[in-house]
Amino acid sequence: MIHNPLSQTKILLGVTGSIAAYKAADLASKLTQSGAQVKVILSDAATKFISPLTFQSVTGQPAYVDADLWGAQAHVLHIGLAHEADLLLIAPATAHTIAKLAQGSADDLLSLTALALGTDEDSAPLLIAPAMDAGMFGHAATQENLRVLVERGAVIIGPEQGHLASGLVAKGRMTEPLEILGHVRYQLSGRGPLRSRKIVVTAGATQEPLDPVRYLSNRASGKQGFALAQAALDAGADVTLISGPTHLLAPVGTNYIQVRSAEEMSAATLQACQTAHALLMAAAVADFRPAQHSNQKIKKSAGLPTIELARNPDILAAVKDQRAKFGHPKVLVGFAAETKDLLANARGKLKAKGLDLIAANDVSAADAGFAVDTNRITLLHADGQQEELPLMSKAEVAAEIIKRIIPLLDKESGS
Ligand code: CTP
Repeated sequence: MIHNPLSQTKILLGVTGSIAAYKAADLASKLTQSGAQVKVILSDAATKFISPLTFQSVTGQPAYVDADLWGAQAHVLHIGLAHEADLLLIAPATAHTIAKLAQGSADDLLSLTALALGTDEDSAPLLIAPAMDAGMFGHAATQENLRVLVERGAVIIGPEQGHLASGLVAKGRMTEPLEILGHVRYQLSGRGPLRSRKIVVTAGATQEPLDPVRYLSNRASGKQGFALAQAALDAGADVTLISGPTHLLAPVGTNYIQVRSAEEMSAATLQACQTAHALLMAAAVADFRPAQHSNQKIKKSAGLPTIELARNPDILAAVKDQRAKFGHPKVLVGFAAETKDLLANARGKLKAKGLDLIAANDVSAADAGFAVDTNRITLLHADGQQEELPLMSKAEVAAEIIKRIIPLLDKESGS
């Protein structure tokens, strides 16, 4: 089972009067599809851009407007909404709304509800995704208002550089819904079973340069490693994700370190592991690199080159050696990508690399391994236990692995 921090949560989405309001419908839909119950409050200006019915249709929940303040439940509406919410997200948030929030002014349903949320330790988090023209965003008044809100615990998401309604290309565009969703997910994940655990995840393929335009690499996409980083975050861990080149978006909340070669990955991993509780080594590290790296492009006129190879460091083996000095990481998890003798090879790696767990997969299968979204793995434990998992998504595989890390870490810390 995937631990989804959004499922069963109650999210209040405040939408204010910006052209980005149309994107809030997509955001409300994505939050709903992720399992959250989403109620929406539109400011008066927001209703000029988008109708409450749009939100009711995508969320299946009420979308409130200021007129509801004077309805039958008016005396409790804002208090009730604030108390039941696990999180208040205002996206898009205009400069005016931000100013009102900073001042504690409460003259419409959204600002009343935001005030009723409180700023105590156990108050629901307030996330704000500003959208406005660049000059308004850069204005000292807006910056000061945002500083005040951050000081009180609010999380500000964006805005991004991009095309603005004024025709300018500058900072002021609302962050894309998918990334806002990542922030919401991260905010809600802090209470999971891996809280205060530091997990290092490696992902993707390394690239071993031959000359400025060519390299040796492999077909790994990074998908399984990125899914592991997300699953570890969802369980509340403090996650460092070290990845070879990829177009994937790092999950919001990771300490993301991009590397290129195996040597760079090795240095970054050894450094991060000095204080880590677990290393999940999902990267497909190139075992060999060109022995010589040419600073100039190798010309075909120079004849057919012979590429001599040198061995790359075995990162897991180096981490195991370093563990003797720092006592970290407590738990080591490896992956075995095989095309034959899957289990025998994986068992050999489990032992040789001193691992607690290895996920073996047959990368010659079309529906498992490199680049695809699904994987079929067998988990081999250090105590000899063997578990064959059915074909599942890489997100599900990640959740299964994280589930098995929790007791291993608890055992290590004696809890
Ligand atoms: N690994 C590593 N450093 C390397 C190569 C691999 O840390 N230079 C890690 C991988 O990230 C993986 C595990 O070791 O978690 C097994 O990787 P794999 O490529 O299957 O095995 P190798 O040890 O490289 O052996 P071989 O290529 O001969 O199968």
